[in-house]
Amino acid sequence: MVQTGAKPMRDKALSFFGLGYVGLTSAVCFASRGFNVIGFDTDPQKIELINSGKAPFYEPQVEELLREARRRGQLSFTDNPEEAVKGSDTTFITVGTPSNPDGSINLEQVKNASKQIGQALKGKNGYHLVVVRSTVTPGTTENIVKPIIESCSRKKCGESWGLCFSPEFLREGSAVNDTFHPDRIIIGELDRTSGEILEELYRTFYSSEMPKTIRTTPVNAELVKYANNAFLAMKVSFINMIANLCQKLPGADVEVIAEGIGLDKRIGPLFLKAGAGWGGSCFRKDLDALLDFALKNSVELPLVEAALKVNNTQPYRMIELAKGLIGELKGKKVSVLGLAFKPETDDMRDAVSIKIVKRLLEEGARVAVYDPKAMENARKAFGEAVEYAESVEDCLTGSECALIVTEWEEFRKMTPQNFIELMKIPAVVDGRRIYNAESFSPKLRFAAVGLGEKRYYNQH
Ligand SMILES: NC(=O)c1ccc[n+]([C@@H]2O[C@H](COP(=O)([O-])OP(=O)(O)OC[C@H]3O[C@@H](n4cnc5c(N)ncnc54)[C@H](O)[C@@H]3O)[C@@H](O)[C@H]2O)c1
Repeated sequence: MVQTGAKPMRDKALSFFGLGYVGLTSAVCFASRGFNVIGFDTDPQKIELINSGKAPFYEPQVEELLREARRRGQLSFTDNPEEAVKGSDTTFITVGTPSNPDGSINLEQVKNASKQIGQALKGKNGYHLVVVRSTVTPGTTENIVKPIIESCSRKKCGESWGLCFSPEFLREGSAVNDTFHPDRIIIGELDRTSGEILEELYRTFYSSEMPKTIRTTPVNAELVKYANNAFLAMKVSFINMIANLCQKLPGADVEVIAEGIGLDKRIGPLFLKAGAGWGGSCFRKDLDALLDFALKNSVELPLVEAALKVNNTQPYRMIELAKGLIGELKGKKVSVLGLAFKPETDDMRDAVSIKIVKRLLEEGARVAVYDPKAMENARKAFGEAVEYAESVEDCLTGSECALIVTEWEEFRKMTPQNFIELMKIPAVVDGRRIYNAESFSPKLRFAAVGLGEKRYYNQH
């Protein structure tokens, strides 16, 4: 039982510090289930945009939920951190934790948010729970967040305020669905009461669908998040490593290998999709932060290093395959289909498309790019160096090679005939294994990551 005399949960108000992919998605989801939510961000333009009913990024369902919750008066936004804390009982810290140039974690946003929360708590009556949701290295909640809030509020943790770390596992592209249906909840609590309040809050939110919940120490909860991302990255890098071997073996196909090993229950089929490598805002920065953290504790993590090593060169396999199809790229129009780091997002942070486009330009290719959602971010990344197409057709017209970099649904629907009709030379490199090699190979110049040389393919 919660011992704070807390009101029934749904009367409780929540605040979110940081309205990026995680903070805004969580805010709209909690508001949609009847919580009163107040969002704060240090970026005034973001607040203004969100207040006008628009999400500052593309993520399925977020904008609809945002508008609905605002219409019901359940969701508001402020540029005043004190107002956010005083108007709520629980504050989630969902600010960014980017990398420093040396790969170590940059905790400046977490420290600033902790200061703002601490200062606001100084003049607040009643119990307040602070939940760190940003990904932070082990020990951060207890050794950095707690002392900052204690010193700014002049209140001891565990008395009038409590502190937990609870990692976020949502995936961009399915963030709303993941928020409503997570595989598990992890609560790292500094004291029992704060853990109980947070568990009850989740129970109210998930109701009969409460996921398996692990209550533990903050340091365990912090490490679970890193170990989770490191394992997933390792799994993808593993299959990409095997894909690179398959590439050299006539008749081999990594998809069959993935299916074969994925049926082993100890391995499982997910995250065994070979391709151009993983990107996104989390894997690289989290693996770098984990390596740096381990090193500071005199521990080496060779499997994590290997996962990064495989991924560093994986995007360039696309260039090798393109050259195998059409020879030198200099002066040729090459079309890049897909720029976001995965489908159903406009996020291009650390996207493999950036590496691929850069290398194509170095090789002297004329690069045309297209993505259904990420064109605005692409303009920031590539400036005047590439041609921005209005559609797939526009991107492919007159092209001598097409690289599939992100597996958008729109690209999956393309037939060999579509490429033949539009391109000067119909050559396709499938970096996400979205096409059926048997139907594509005989009709056009076709190569795919992890597919042994095509001239042998049909002899099987
Ligand atoms: N994006 C993901 O898929 C994902 C998934 C799981 C976990 N995470 C983790 O969640 C955290 C947030 O990730 P994100 O992708 O939403 O980041 P983001 O960069 O999209 O958003 C962070 C937001 O915090 C704001 N901010 C910075 N300092 C602030 C302060 N003091 N007070 C209030 N707002 C402040 C920024 O202006 C920005 O809007 C990171 O630690 C990340 O590793 C992200």
